[in-house]
Amino acid sequence: MDDSSFEAMASEIEGLLGIDRTRHERYSFVTRAVRGYGDRPDATGAVSYPIYQSATFAHPRLHESTGFAYGRCGNPTVLELENTIAMLEGGLKALAFCSGMAAISCIIKLFKQGDVVLVSDDLYGGTHRLFQDVYAARYGIEFRPVDFTDLEAVESACSGPIAAFFVETPTNPMMKVSDIAALAELAHAQDALLIVDNTFLTCYFQRPLDLGADLVVYSGTKYLCGHNDCICGFVVIRDDKLLERVFMDYMSEGDALGPFDAWLMLRSLKTLPLRLDAQEERAKKICAFLKTHPNVTRVLYVGDPDHPDYELSCKQTTGFGAMISFDVDSVERAEQVLEKTKLITFAESLGGAESLITYPAVQTHGSVPEEKRLALGLTDKLLRLSVGLEDADDLIADLEQALS
Ligand SMILES: Cc1ncc(COP(=O)(O)O)c(C=O)c1O
Repeated sequence: MDDSSFEAMASEIEGLLGIDRTRHERYSFVTRAVRGYGDRPDATGAVSYPIYQSATFAHPRLHESTGFAYGRCGNPTVLELENTIAMLEGGLKALAFCSGMAAISCIIKLFKQGDVVLVSDDLYGGTHRLFQDVYAARYGIEFRPVDFTDLEAVESACSGPIAAFFVETPTNPMMKVSDIAALAELAHAQDALLIVDNTFLTCYFQRPLDLGADLVVYSGTKYLCGHNDCICGFVVIRDDKLLERVFMDYMSEGDALGPFDAWLMLRSLKTLPLRLDAQEERAKKICAFLKTHPNVTRVLYVGDPDHPDYELSCKQTTGFGAMISFDVDSVERAEQVLEKTKLITFAESLGGAESLITYPAVQTHGSVPEEKRLALGLTDKLLRLSVGLEDADDLIADLEQALS
């Protein structure tokens, strides 16, 4: 598509050219999250944003548009969510997808056969599977694992042209923290894009675009949603350089989020700062409890002053989140904890109001080869806890009885 036809399409589809970044700059993050971007396409005065459950939109007459044409390419409720996310993340444009994996897959389509992408050596297992089993095996893109916490290792991995760095920070589940600003410098020196998966901390605690990243991706299913009731993903674009290419894929493939789920997400975002602050407060108490428990041999929480990347977290984020991984003293003990927790639910996923516990070696990282998993320290004794919003004392009592 040449520039003129893109402009024509963009002007037909409202908001494609990005948000007005000055619009709510007088307000704090908390206020912006509650009020959203705030486009009001109807005159009813509804305080809750309407759900436009429509697959298609009528044209007033030939060559005229309401700003919406066909639901796969744009919907008012979805657009309000996208604009709210772009505003909160400090990007120009956000696109809402039907899952985090759909968002990541859309970004990887920026690359072609023979391109090399450096990727975190400790990635969410589903992302690892998508990269290796789909895009490497079938489409010839190379995904080169690297420990992004080690800047010298990153430099050494940059042999030959590099198309992008794909960084999770903190990583899932080993909680390694990477220096986003330093990685942006290294990536840009290679003419590579810096892509950050911001799922664990969200834009409330960490703003990769402000630190130099080019793209942010999300599993919106997690903290952004926060209620364990919606699967969703986002791509946030810093400037207009990549907008056309990403939007073309988004619109052509049809992975957009539906209007009802977009409405659920708009509702969720209103409480994002409140939820994250409360979850972090509980996580700190639980971390302190786990660190003193005789049957727990290692605790990984980025808000723990003993975490090796604690100083870096303090420098680049405004909070630590509520994800804790911990090793118990035996595989049998790990199984026992999964069986005995009564309040904490044994289930995949994270970030919601309900605390969840998972067994990464078998669940989220079951598709990562054992040798690679063990080399990362992801043992068969590791459990991952997503601390929710229940009372901290109740959660600690549940862990206490499950661990002994
Ligand atoms: C860090 C991270 N990124 C991406 C994903 C994929 O997101 P989704 O499950 O919404 O497709 C997950 C899922 O657990 C994740 O933890």
